Amino acid sequence: AFDNSKVTVIFVLGGPGAGKGTQCANLVQDFDFCHLSAGDLLRAEQNREGSQYGEMIRTFIREGQIVPMEVTIKLLENAMRAALTEGRADEGWTDSRGRFLIDGFPRKMDQAMKFDEEVCQSSLVMFFTTTEEEMLKRLMERGKTSGREDDNEESIKKRFRVYKEQTMPVIEYYNNAHKVATIDATATIEEVHEKAKSVVTQLFKGEITRNFSS
Ligand code: AP5
Repeated sequence: AFDNSKVTVIFVLGGPGAGKGTQCANLVQDFDFCHLSAGDLLRAEQNREGSQYGEMIRTFIREGQIVPMEVTIKLLENAMRAALTEGRADEGWTDSRGRFLIDGFPRKMDQAMKFDEEVCQSSLVMFFTTTEEEMLKRLMERGKTSGREDDNEESIKKRFRVYKEQTMPVIEYYNNAHKVATIDATATIEEVHEKAKSVVTQLFKGEITRNFSS
């Protein structure tokens, strides 16, 4: 477990293609966060030579299903520990070693519970929201060059379903705990970035104590 007096965790959630990764990349420039994407960590593990989980991860991702919690949480914890000890020069992350943007996690209630109980408490959930139509359009466009096995219409539809059935309850759970900042992600990347930046600024000033939306 990590010491919550030294570690700040912001979860970044939203539907497939809502813009989580894009906005995290922007926020890293503003605030010196360590950005950890659950999806990126899983794809890296999938491609790691000798990984015992590679094939299993590939199947889950292609089907848009949530990879078993034990694997995902272990990868995240390892990445957090590595960041705390080594830093992440690749992301320009220098002295604010305890600030994490955890993107695409927790996607299911069991992950949320286990992380809260055994890893550390999150301070905030940034929830990017837009229409399914918009998300589909963005992912189909990205699919032309991303090389991602799940950027095709069939996988995307499955991801939408899993998101609604399994991830929305997580957002509701944190909403009831007044931890969710909802950000309308329909606008341009720069406009959404400004909103996200203002949410983080308020968090660091200690101004966020209640649930609020943009
Ligand atoms: P993951 O990699 O997390 O994918 P996702 O949630 O489906 O989200 P994406 O990365 O596709 O989209 P994004 O919201 O980051 O949008 P982006 O910024 O890229 O997960 C993939 C799979 O891994 C899961 O299905 C699951 O199998 C597994 N997995 C992941 N997390 C897991 C977990 N916690 N537990 C178990 N399994 C897990 O933007 C999308 C596109 O839109 C880009 O081209 C971008 O340029 C564009 N765009 C962004 N914002 C805008 C805007 N405002 N206007 C116009 N275009 C925009």
